[in-house]
Amino acid sequence: MNNVHVMKHPLILDKISRLRDKRTGTQEFRQIIFQVSIILAVESTVHCRVRRKNIATPLEETNGFQIRDDIVLLPILRAGLGMVDGFLSLMPEAKVGYLGVYRNEATLEPVTYYKNFPKNLDRSEIFVLDPMLATGGSSNYCLSLIKECGGKNITLVTIISAPQGVELISQNHPDVKIVTASLDRELNGYGYILPGLGDAGDRLNGTF
Ligand code: PRP
Ligand code: URA
Repeated sequence: MNNVHVMKHPLILDKISRLRDKRTGTQEFRQIIFQVSIILAVESTVHCRVRRKNIATPLEETNGFQIRDDIVLLPILRAGLGMVDGFLSLMPEAKVGYLGVYRNEATLEPVTYYKNFPKNLDRSEIFVLDPMLATGGSSNYCLSLIKECGGKNITLVTIISAPQGVELISQNHPDVKIVTASLDRELNGYGYILPGLGDAGDRLNGTF
């Protein structure tokens, strides 16, 4: 599991605990997902390349920098949508594509219902956003689809991950970097992460 970065920042520890708490309602849950996503956006872009750019301060000309490559955000619907605004608040020029995938509750197999990717994935820094990496089935499937469409430089950004999901992605997509706010203990028999936070899509959307 050498391509996984698990965050340990005190703010993340605090906020993840609030997300886990079953008393946290939809409004607060959304707000914390937004805040955690900003922190994850900082952490997951450390490898991004910059190019030099001359700028003039009020006092003199100097060397500045700008992010070199196009940034593409690919949230996995529904729950990944909750992470987009946090990323966009730091990278407002990013392109956003969408991938609608849900887990068949019986088989846990991913089912696609929507796909709309920006052009030039091959030349972009791609951030796949999904708060939950459980069995890894959804992310594994999405990463294969993104690569079929030309995607090369991919980071999977999650909030809670299970060892099984991380293992699957590491095996099938060793080139994909994983940045997660928490690596949890295990999955239960229904494919839910323990201790986890429950169903992220339902908690974000108030659909229980
Ligand atoms: C959740 C989550 C991931 C997936 C993780 O989505 O947001 O996409 O499950 O599980 P896996 O790693 O076992 O595939 P869900 O299918 O509940 O859809 P939703 O976001 O529309 O609620
Ligand atoms: N999807 C979720 O939303 N939560 C889990 O624990 C597993 C998959």
